[in-house]
Amino acid sequence: MDRSPDLDPGFAGEFADELADLSLLAFEPVVPDLRLDVFRGGDWITDFAQDVHRGLSADPPQLQPKYFYDARGSELFDRITELPEYYPTRVERAILRERGAEIVAAAGARALVELGSGSSEKTELLLAPLLAARGEAVYVPIDVSESAVRQASVRLIERYPGLRVHGVIGDFEKHLGGLPADEGRLFAFLGGTIGNFTPDHMQFFLRRLGRLLAPGDALLVGIDLVKDTAVLEAAYDDDAGVTEQFNKNILNVINENLAGDFDLDGFEHVAFFDERNSWIEMRLRALRDQQVRVGALDLRLDFSAGDDIRTEISRKFRRNGFERELAAAGLRQTGWYSDEENRFALVLATAA
Ligand code: AVJ
Repeated sequence: MDRSPDLDPGFAGEFADELADLSLLAFEPVVPDLRLDVFRGGDWITDFAQDVHRGLSADPPQLQPKYFYDARGSELFDRITELPEYYPTRVERAILRERGAEIVAAAGARALVELGSGSSEKTELLLAPLLAARGEAVYVPIDVSESAVRQASVRLIERYPGLRVHGVIGDFEKHLGGLPADEGRLFAFLGGTIGNFTPDHMQFFLRRLGRLLAPGDALLVGIDLVKDTAVLEAAYDDDAGVTEQFNKNILNVINENLAGDFDLDGFEHVAFFDERNSWIEMRLRALRDQQVRVGALDLRLDFSAGDDIRTEISRKFRRNGFERELAAAGLRQTGWYSDEENRFALVLATAA
């Protein structure tokens, strides 16, 4: 709205030395055709504690959206994807269903690398046509959730003969350095998650991906598009109140992991489209004056009624704008796949 601070205190503008993070803990041939690599780049709670401390001490206070997704947050997000107001998941899935074959052909893909694969549910819409065209393929799901990668890997191997899975359990911002060097890799970053990155962070991330792309590799990114403000705002403020619960859950994650005493009823869910920045911003607004303690951080916070904690940005792009951002990061847009109403797009790119 008024101020536009640096929204991402955890992002230092550069990543830690890639090699330092490649602490491969385990290599497990689980079943034939499946290999799992487990990375642990420092431990989650240390990063979380540091990010929360930094974020809540900032003015205005802010939290990073990646911390929404504990078990409960992931469950709430799954419910969001089924809400009538939340179109992105449905529209992206429809585009993939209709044009998945065309996309993998245009990409010349032989292997699919998925950043933040989760349940790998939409992935099948790329894998099935890939296997149909080539008879065999490699799938590399990358996710911090070990159970998600395991379950998806086993399910897909059972379902698709000819598929080999090389799962990576780790953070796709840190553990891209040790990926298998197959030919014709299609890196997929679906769901519109790239919209959570600030513009600077996205530039940095894309540039880094661009350097990872060998000739013959391609990148497929899902992005949400600018549309009517009422439609955008409804998608982040649904009638059933699921997004509100999702937003507030981040306070629970702090309470449970860092001995916090946030009262979830002391805050309200706020979501609005910031037209100037072209992003949806979610906040938690204090309903009354209150004091909060975060025991593990030795932090005491004073909120006055009306004070906001920023919890998420979700950028909404235009075709030309995104193409320019790709170009600025050293990538060339080679394909654009969107629905008839231009609600959501899958963008194909290669190293320029
Ligand atoms: C998972 C980041 C794509 O920004 O639309 C949904 C997260 N936040 N409702 C999005 C989210 C509130 C979602 N992404």
